[in-house]
Amino acid sequence: MAPRTPAVADQAFVTLLTNDSYATGALVLAHSLHRVHTTRSLAVLVTSDVSQERREQLSAVFNLVQEVPRLDSEDAENLRLLNRPELGVTFTKINAWTLIQFNKCVFLDADTLVVRNVDDLFDRPELSAAPDVGWPDCFNSGVFVFKPDRSTYRALLEHAKKLGSFDGGDQGLLNSFWSNWACSDPSHRLPFVYNLTVSTSYSYAPALKRFGSDVRIIHFIGSIKPWHHSYSTAADQVILCPGTATTQEPVRKFLNIWWNIYITEIPSPYLVLTPPTPPLSPPYVSSGPYPDPSEPLPEAESEAWRASWEQGQIDYMGRDSFDRIQQHIDSLINSTETTASTETTDAPSITDEAETSA
Ligand code: UDP
Ligand code: GLC
Ligand code: MN
Repeated sequence: MAPRTPAVADQAFVTLLTNDSYATGALVLAHSLHRVHTTRSLAVLVTSDVSQERREQLSAVFNLVQEVPRLDSEDAENLRLLNRPELGVTFTKINAWTLIQFNKCVFLDADTLVVRNVDDLFDRPELSAAPDVGWPDCFNSGVFVFKPDRSTYRALLEHAKKLGSFDGGDQGLLNSFWSNWACSDPSHRLPFVYNLTVSTSYSYAPALKRFGSDVRIIHFIGSIKPWHHSYSTAADQVILCPGTATTQEPVRKFLNIWWNIYITEIPSPYLVLTPPTPPLSPPYVSSGPYPDPSEPLPEAESEAWRASWEQGQIDYMGRDSFDRIQQHIDSLINSTETTASTETTDAPSITDEAETSA
């Protein structure tokens, strides 16, 4: 499948992946942009750690899959303050300024979802962004308008080497580089609905109720991402990871949209079933009450079933639903315990991509 030809090819939405686990987010993001009929190109920056299989998936929806060097702040001290030790690699984001084939770009984190057309962002100047909920005099660097330019790229690199970043990630770096953002011309300040992040502030819930229908981009900040939750097709609802209700409940409606795109748009061979071991597992779909866990699994041992599984023809909602596979594994474990046998099973293996790609 080839990506759509954009009407405005010299402007692009850009995202970033330094590993396979964020690829799910990038794919859903690209589909969300197509759903709102963007007229711009879609580009994704990948580092050498992103697998060939993921690159092929990405090239079906992104017009450009560009490999870039991995850049890491290695600033453990400031990242500890952010409580996100893994975010040093977000320095890789500054490679976006090397995409000089585009005259204007909008960067979107791979954990964002576009719910209404935002092509008007391309009318904004560099650097335009929305306030960060943690410190509104800083902008959040999950969504920003920029102009690719080699000299800006070099200046950012130089700035990073000399001064580092106050949060250890790209947000601290970009905010100290564009340090007058908060008092610059208002055209640089995007409305919050262009980068809606969840907040626990008491004023958030009423505002979300009042302005929620204006939301254009939702940004699932924090270490728990939409693909770490699971989804019940029976209830048509996201099932939140244990312990995440306080932060995630307000954005449940948007998580449901994310999952709806994921289930309907991402080709099924790429849908990986995993046991629900959040927050490390990739997406997991449960078909709810069907099948009855007390039912035996007559075809579980069949060669045909195994062959179709291995070819990626997986019946996620029925025969191969997680509940049913889990039950099969449990029964095998029980029988292994009883017989003390060490034989391997005929059950399909359940891959945890997050673990294997780590
Ligand atoms: N990212 C990445 N690999 C990582 C961490 C982050 O590629 O290991 C990219 C990805 O595009 C992600 C962005 O950097 O959306 C910023 O990280 P994240 O969204 O997790 O930060 P948050 O918005 O939660 O602060
Ligand atoms: C922020 C932003 C994210 C950035 C991170 C590290 O919370 O949402 O885009 O990568 O901080 O600076
Ligand atoms: Mn983010």
